[in-house]
Amino acid sequence: MTTVDRNMKFKNIKGIIFDLDGVLTNTSEYHYKAWKMLADELGIHFDRNINEKLRGIPRKESLEIMLAGKVVSEKEIKRLMDIKNNYYNDFLTQMNPDDILPGVLELLCETRKAGIKIGIGSSSKNAKTVIDKLGLESFVDSISDGFSVDNHKPAPDLFLHCAANLAVSPENTIVVEDAESGVEAALNGGFWVVGLGPAERVGKAHIVFPSFENVKLRDFIGN
Ligand code: BG6
Ligand code: MG
Repeated sequence: MTTVDRNMKFKNIKGIIFDLDGVLTNTSEYHYKAWKMLADELGIHFDRNINEKLRGIPRKESLEIMLAGKVVSEKEIKRLMDIKNNYYNDFLTQMNPDDILPGVLELLCETRKAGIKIGIGSSSKNAKTVIDKLGLESFVDSISDGFSVDNHKPAPDLFLHCAANLAVSPENTIVVEDAESGVEAALNGGFWVVGLGPAERVGKAHIVFPSFENVKLRDFIGN
């Protein structure tokens, strides 16, 4: 189900802000496994469908969705978030540059060569660790992460924060997202948006690719 709009090309692009989880690497699987381990311990049903709702959603809000209405104290919320994050970080220890998704490295190289600035706009507080593990630090001009802003996606704040650090305007910047909330955040900020994944999830983006495999910069950027 390729829904690439080959006729649409962005012009005068000065920056690209990439979401991290699900765009540069498939950390969604590690997030899923970590939440599942915690949910099993708590005797709460959790599956991949529920996990889909957590794409792009910060840790605390993700926990609230996982708890499915179960009421717990703020202290317990903090304890449960730490447990999940420890599981997640255990998975991250295995991560290496082989975990970069197909087509991503080539696209980052092209972007660099074209003189376009590269930012990361991720809701994750582990974003810097993941970028390090993937060996992508040298490609990245600025990282806005789970510590950068208060209002999370679909608020545009994180992407606006990143664009400001890159010194680019939204109308000259593309955001790449795999989450519905992320696509909405980018649209709310006035950015151009590339959606990665099924149209049911990212179909509101200006251009949609199933993944970056075999995608070149010229497929979505014109002169
Ligand atoms: C987002 C992921 O990038 O980061 C979410 O899509 C995750 O699934 C969120 O919950 C927060 O991540 P972290 O690493 O701060 O728990
Ligand atoms: Mg994502």
